Amino acid sequence: MVDAKTVKVFAHRGGREWAPENTMAAFRQALDLRVDGIELDVQRCSTGELVVFHDEDLSRTTNGVGLVADVSFDELRRLDAGSWFDKEFKGEKVPTLEEVLNLVDGKCILNIEVKNAPVSYEGIEDDLLALIEAYPHPETLIISSFDHYVLRNLAQRAPQYQLAVLADAVLIDLPAYAATFGARYFHPCFDSCRPDVVEQCHQAGIGVNPWTVNGRKSWSRALKMQVDGIVTDDPEDLMVFLGRAVAVTV
Ligand code: G3P
Ligand code: MG
Repeated sequence: MVDAKTVKVFAHRGGREWAPENTMAAFRQALDLRVDGIELDVQRCSTGELVVFHDEDLSRTTNGVGLVADVSFDELRRLDAGSWFDKEFKGEKVPTLEEVLNLVDGKCILNIEVKNAPVSYEGIEDDLLALIEAYPHPETLIISSFDHYVLRNLAQRAPQYQLAVLADAVLIDLPAYAATFGARYFHPCFDSCRPDVVEQCHQAGIGVNPWTVNGRKSWSRALKMQVDGIVTDDPEDLMVFLGRAVAVTV
């Protein structure tokens, strides 16, 4: 039985309501709030570093242009990833996954979403495994991707990691499908998350963490559905809604 006390709160991209998404500023605030988990997106720049960034294109959330895949790490680091959100965050940088791993350091669950479409980062699974190999809290990692080949490759190379099937659909026989790569979680778009889907997953021992669930009505619906975790842009208000934090901002 999941309730307001036990449902896990995940800060989507670190919490998009309060800070520029996928930045250290957002992740620090999420940790200060003591969220149960942080979701972030990973891509690869031209010099091979795994960086935390949502879009394949730089223009929405930085002052740069072009593809993440085409810029070097030095070029990427010169970009401002904060001003587009608020001038208060001017100078915020695009973090590396390594920096976020060092910051989080097991303080909460880290859901690493591997972006591999529309840009395909060949061998990104190996880069990720090489990086998280030294992470001292592997049991707190959940790796997800819309590219299920990535999940399958990870499962074949390193079955010790928890995987989540990421999808925007009601899948046929999800438990059987998830079992093909030993996935322990299903991360559905909230629009395709239904009580029978949650029930089916739970019967197979699969946890369900839908995204992106914003606002009281949706949070109530998610709780009623008995989801295990709620991935939200607004973790602060969700914590207040659940009776687990006092509002920090007015
Ligand atoms: O991982 C859940 C969610 O983040 C997937 O969608 O586009 O926000 O990365 P997106
Ligand atoms: Mg994501």
